[in-house]
Amino acid sequence: MQFFIDTANLDEIKEAQDMGVLDGVTTNPSLMAKEHIQGPEAIMAHYKTICDLVNQNVSAEVIATDYEGMIKEGTALARIDDKIVVKVPMIKDGIRAIKYFSSRGIRTNCTLVFSTGQAILAAKAGASYVSPFIGRLDDIAHDGMGLIAQIAHIYKTFDFSTQVLAASIRHTMHLIQCAEEGADVVTAPFKVIDGLFNHPLTDIGLTRFLSDFQKAQEGVQEEKNNQTIKEVADAE
Ligand code: E4P
Repeated sequence: MQFFIDTANLDEIKEAQDMGVLDGVTTNPSLMAKEHIQGPEAIMAHYKTICDLVNQNVSAEVIATDYEGMIKEGTALARIDDKIVVKVPMIKDGIRAIKYFSSRGIRTNCTLVFSTGQAILAAKAGASYVSPFIGRLDDIAHDGMGLIAQIAHIYKTFDFSTQVLAASIRHTMHLIQCAEEGADVVTAPFKVIDGLFNHPLTDIGLTRFLSDFQKAQEGVQEEKNNQTIKEVADAE
């Protein structure tokens, strides 16, 4: 199972990369806007900086929604770096564009997927990744996790090579359940990945180990001191 971080924030990407568990990054136009990255040149430069920070898989989303526009933009994005995965929305022209890119060896991530039918279309077009948005489905009282399970089951049954990239992850349980349901990749905000580290028993256990170690060291030191005092007394 792979871990991607869902952010365009360089500090978060660096910190997650330093943890040693990161397999990639997903961004979207909202996340880029949050970092105040504006204009085509700044956007391209920001993607390049992200690519230089991580080992593989940087999803960069096209803004165009027509076929020709997506081809032009996606081709330019793919030229930035081999790590770029062109993120294309789940619309008719998007599926055509995914077919175009996949036939040319350009990796794609079909985004804004909310149904199993959409995921089948993405796989048929040859998408490298399909991104079902779990949190946004849960927000409207639909079963996000059920969608992951169904897509994973169908892809396995028909041996589709498209990987299930669970997106719109809100909390650590989402991430763990996605793993259980067979998602190949989970992309999550930094706080969710970081949250996996936490367990009060780990903290309590570590504090106790260190304090027992400290006590043992003090005991050894006390024994040494007593021995020195004895040797001095014996010499007198
Ligand atoms: C995925 O690639 C998207 O960037 C992301 O997961 C959307 O998440 P949100 O619903 O929290 O905006």
